[in-house]
Amino acid sequence: MRVTFALALLLAVAWADHHYDHLAGDDPNHGHHHHDHPHNDHSQHHHGDDMICHKLAQPNADFAFALYKNINSKNAAGKNIFYSPLGIATALSMLSTGARGNTHDQMFSALGYSSMNQTSVNDAYEHLLLMMGHNQQNQVLNVGNGLAVRTGFAPLGSFIADVKTHYSAEIFNVDFEKPQEAASEINQFISDKTQGKIKDMVKDLDSAMAMVLLNYVYFRGQWEKPFEDDKTDKAEFHVDENTKVMVDMMMRTGRYDFFQDVDNHTSVIMLPYKGNTSMMIVLPDEGRMKEVEDVMCKHHLKHWHDSLTRQSVDIYLPKFSVSVDAALDDTLKELGMNDAFGDTADFSGISEEVKLKVSKASHQAMLSVDETGTEAAAVTTIEVMPMSMPEKMVLNRPFLMFILEHSTRSILFMGKINNPTEA
Ligand SMILES: *[C@@H]1O[C@H](CO)[C@@H](O)[C@H](O)[C@H]1NC(C)=O
Ligand SMILES: *[C@@H]1O[C@H](CO)[C@@H](O)[C@H](O)[C@H]1NC(C)=O
Ligand SMILES: *[C@@H]1O[C@H](CO)[C@@H](O)[C@H](O)[C@H]1NC(C)=O
Repeated sequence: MRVTFALALLLAVAWADHHYDHLAGDDPNHGHHHHDHPHNDHSQHHHGDDMICHKLAQPNADFAFALYKNINSKNAAGKNIFYSPLGIATALSMLSTGARGNTHDQMFSALGYSSMNQTSVNDAYEHLLLMMGHNQQNQVLNVGNGLAVRTGFAPLGSFIADVKTHYSAEIFNVDFEKPQEAASEINQFISDKTQGKIKDMVKDLDSAMAMVLLNYVYFRGQWEKPFEDDKTDKAEFHVDENTKVMVDMMMRTGRYDFFQDVDNHTSVIMLPYKGNTSMMIVLPDEGRMKEVEDVMCKHHLKHWHDSLTRQSVDIYLPKFSVSVDAALDDTLKELGMNDAFGDTADFSGISEEVKLKVSKASHQAMLSVDETGTEAAAVTTIEVMPMSMPEKMVLNRPFLMFILEHSTRSILFMGKINNPTEA
């Protein structure tokens, strides 16, 4: 099971008549800093249960659902939705370190950070990225940031220091005067970070670009309880009342955390990966998808999570691979970040001389789900099953999906699989 996600926030110069050459600092000193991950002493970040990164859990969950509702409202029927709420929030937080005035207020408000300040948000991300950086056995989770800066353009040292220290951003120069080369360098960076899964993230770069902020999330997990290959069979998946597609349906009987939320018209199952991550699948009752997705919020997620009980379940889950790419500009504006995209944008924390605005925000995500989680399916888990009729959960119609990281309480990925065969 692999998931990759990349987000690019493109920052352009608002007024094209400005010239970088005059404005660049003497010594940009932010050249090639690949593999340069300065970290402070993080011991101060741990306060028992009350970890600094957990301050982000509630606002980021609200933001995740706000994103969902907005993206869903624009989504063409039958199309899949898939994105990384954490990735998007991280990139925007990194950008907010350089935002001032209204631009900053709007970003913080949309992110739900109004009761926090930039310092505490920065500290929380620093801690969160550190926690995620502890690679665990059987699981790869790479969350990181990059900053492609125009050759000759020198952002303020304070901005560079913040994004390096708190967001572990790797900073490199590109020559936007040669847009194709610049795009290919940026795409190479993303490709390297996502194990080659996302290759052509940015296209059509404007030569007036000052920099591109990048975020990537790469996750490869192994099911704690792998499916067995020989139980996978062809089956129908009902995209909607009139559309059926054939999928490879995996099947497994096992003990799972399961909850049938009768009042809220859904069934919920938690499929754990080895490590601290799980996939939570939410299957609305037939014909109830819209009702569920319109009202769902972080309280539902918590309610579902807290109501799960260990039961025997026959689970039928399609094996699939989907790729989703989309622009986020309108979504972010509609969530309240208008100024960042307009001529009133205030990024004077990035540059005092050059006026910047966000010209584009785009993301791309890929998800593939199979029997093993990864290559090796060698281990078979034998579970003692109680003598009761198993519950049945058949994912043969659109379902919602969350990939949760438990130690940081993050929603790594979230989406709706409408059609598992849509490439
Ligand atoms: C930011 O918030 C933290 C914690 O709430 C507080 O200790 C700190 O003084 C604040 N910093 C500024 C610059 O307001
Ligand atoms: C889960 O995260 C906690 C806290 O970071 C860590 O101590 C623990 O080792 C992790 N568990 C696994 C199975 O990796
Ligand atoms: C339905 O979801 C709501 C909101 O999370 C929750 O308060 C309520 O208890 C749920 N109903 C049932 C019966 O589980």
